[in-house]
Amino acid sequence: MTRSSRPDQSLRKSQRLCRLAEIEEDEGKSLQVPDPSGGPPRELVVLRWEGGLYGYLNACPHLGVPLEMVPDRFVDAAGTHVICRTHGALFVPETGYCVSGPCAGRSLTPVAVDVDAEGWVVLTAPLPSGV
Ligand code: FES
Repeated sequence: MTRSSRPDQSLRKSQRLCRLAEIEEDEGKSLQVPDPSGGPPRELVVLRWEGGLYGYLNACPHLGVPLEMVPDRFVDAAGTHVICRTHGALFVPETGYCVSGPCAGRSLTPVAVDVDAEGWVVLTAPLPSGV
């Protein structure tokens, strides 16, 4: 996860995921990226939250299923946490830490993201493997 402060012109175009403008403020967007080892595409969620940008694997630590049931709807009704729609686990958006639910005390797996000089959300490090 990365908190974005300013565009980084050194980020490569091949790492682009989507335009920042495609992510609603204080919400998330689900994205798929190819698995470099040839496996099925990896599912990510990128959160645009209170001025920062945070990336995670879109997999609940409880059962490994995607967090959302409605496309690009990751935030709970109170607007304070990311929620897993399967059993209601709540996660701190900035850290991915689970504060409530069956996986309390565990965390979403962070993915390094940032915004390039042209407003694209990009991966800044390889995806975690074996998760
Ligand atoms: S699968 Fe996410 S809380 Fe159970």
